[in-house]
Amino acid sequence: MNVLILGSGGREHAFTLKLSESNKISNLFVAPGNAGTDKIAKNININPTDFIAVKNLVLQNNINMVVVGPEAPLVEGVHDFFLADAELKNIPVIGPKKDGALLEGSKDFSKQFMQKHNVPTAKYQSFTKDNLTDGFTFLETLEPPYVLKADGLAAGKGVLILNSLDEAKAELEEMVSNQKFGEASSTVVIEEFLKGIELSVFVLTDGKNYKILPSAKDYKRIGEGDTGLNTGGMGAISPVPFADESFLNKVEELVVKPTIAGLQKDGIDYRGFIFIGLMNDNGNPSVVEYNVRMGDPETEVVLPRIESDLFDLFEGVANQTLDQKSFSVTDKTATTVMLVSGGYPEAYQKEKEITGFDNVNDSIVFHAGTKIKDNKVVTNGGRVMAISSFGNTIEEALQKSYKSIDKINFDKMNYRKDIGFDLV
Ligand SMILES: Nc1ncnc2c1ncn2[C@@H]1O[C@H](COP(=O)(O)OP(=O)(O)O)[C@@H](O)[C@H]1O
Ligand SMILES: [Mg+2]
Repeated sequence: MNVLILGSGGREHAFTLKLSESNKISNLFVAPGNAGTDKIAKNININPTDFIAVKNLVLQNNINMVVVGPEAPLVEGVHDFFLADAELKNIPVIGPKKDGALLEGSKDFSKQFMQKHNVPTAKYQSFTKDNLTDGFTFLETLEPPYVLKADGLAAGKGVLILNSLDEAKAELEEMVSNQKFGEASSTVVIEEFLKGIELSVFVLTDGKNYKILPSAKDYKRIGEGDTGLNTGGMGAISPVPFADESFLNKVEELVVKPTIAGLQKDGIDYRGFIFIGLMNDNGNPSVVEYNVRMGDPETEVVLPRIESDLFDLFEGVANQTLDQKSFSVTDKTATTVMLVSGGYPEAYQKEKEITGFDNVNDSIVFHAGTKIKDNKVVTNGGRVMAISSFGNTIEEALQKSYKSIDKINFDKMNYRKDIGFDLV
């Protein structure tokens, strides 16, 4: 079998490494990939949202399955494109069609979905510039802090949490009337603030059956103690100690089952990952959001813990036989620490040579923003590498990640030294 993975981050390197362990796969391709995927697969430099280029690549290389890493190609309809094309329609795509991808592509849609199918979530209402004053009135009924979300994709920047009512009103107006986040904020979801601790649960589904993958907690802020600007993610831990069996049972019964049943009821044939962002409020789950793909860096701790053949699971997704597939997870804890470019998430420099990562043997080095230039591995993004390790405890795994990081260097390398600080 020949498999194509779309994307270029740490998540996609983790997919590539996991799939490379399958003896059912003969050739792995990644588009566009990074310096890490280049070592274990063939990188092809095309843009995953250029569907014609994807088609040519698939036909030229006799690809038998496409695994979609990031959300953009899904929301733009890569799966629908395959189904509508005579030459591609029998090649399975792991990732939902446009209708399912709306769970991430529109926060208003996903809140309506949750409400309709009784999935626990914060109470909400949506507004546009045409009913802005109703938005002000709704804000007045809520307690601070106020949560305002741009409906559409906003690269993780479209959510504002504000303490003052006046500020919330002003920001709402900026979003809907002055397009603060472009077209994405022409509709804004305002919701009740949820208390509790956040975590993510990942589900793989063939539309009928599902497997619940390991849970993870990620660290989004740039600064230690969860301070400073939001990033794409600075580290992650799996499993999550406070997500005990009783909590995870509630997640399965109250969230996962109604979500899968809801998709079926609504005629959405969903084949792929569902990332469920959750708040744990005193042992009760409430959904913060759905994403329609795996998280990054959560993938760098979730996939290493899965012992089953990932390609075999994907075949189950494609053939709707996921219930017949075996699935097991190691009890070990996995941690990952992200190495980022100095300055990130604001302006940073690229093309800094990265050294020492070949000497790491106690951890897995997942490349994210890296590329090869003049036979050297250099930085090519804000998030550069995720260093993942196993341990019997969070502390043990983290210690390995940090020891491995001591061997790695690039100009202005930065990372958080306190991943997991709130859990140990
Ligand atoms: N209702 C809410 N109550 C409390 N915090 C929230 C709520 N909604 C979102 N957040 C916080 O804001 C973050 C971003 O919101 P989310 O819905 O995940 O949007 P996105 O990931 O698209 O930016 C969440 O990870 C969570 O920390
Ligand atoms: Mg989120």
